[in-house]
Amino acid sequence: MSSIAVYPGTFDPPTCGHLDIITRSAKVFDTLYVAVLNNSDKTPIFSVDERKNMLSRITNNLNNVVITSFNGLLADYAKQINANVIVKGLRAVSDYEYEYQMALINNKINPAADTFFLTTTAENSFLSSSVVKDIARYKGDLTNMVPSEIQSIVYSKLTE
Ligand code: PNS
Repeated sequence: MSSIAVYPGTFDPPTCGHLDIITRSAKVFDTLYVAVLNNSDKTPIFSVDERKNMLSRITNNLNNVVITSFNGLLADYAKQINANVIVKGLRAVSDYEYEYQMALINNKINPAADTFFLTTTAENSFLSSSVVKDIARYKGDLTNMVPSEIQSIVYSKLTE
């Protein structure tokens, strides 16, 4: 059976931490869907198309990665694409409590999908899309925080 994994997120914008999780999980699973949540209550700055476009740019060397978006429940989306794995990145112990609950809920809704956790690398452990947006807003240096292919897109959006 081929392994199909889904890595969901808001990706507003994608960071080097996201790319690290994508790159490492793409080596483990046959197909990795990177799925942008379409109805987040976080009111993202970038549109779904902009986020998908940035994700496509930074993953175009990974040929088993598919960029998509979804509405509604992640567990239902996993069922729809026959994913047997949900990938989540853990930065710190504080992420764990929430993600543990999500893993249980998602497995309750869709028992065919198990959650796989990857810990981020130490150099990405402080990174988040919110931190990146703050730095970009004040034209700070995004080196090693946002993949170079999309840095200009991030600066333009945050300083427009
Ligand atoms: O990048 P984020 O914002 O941490 O990603 C959060 C995401 C998209 C993984 C999470 O909000 C999610 O799965 N949303 C879909 C709705 C859902 O399935 N919620 C869990 C069951 S209540």
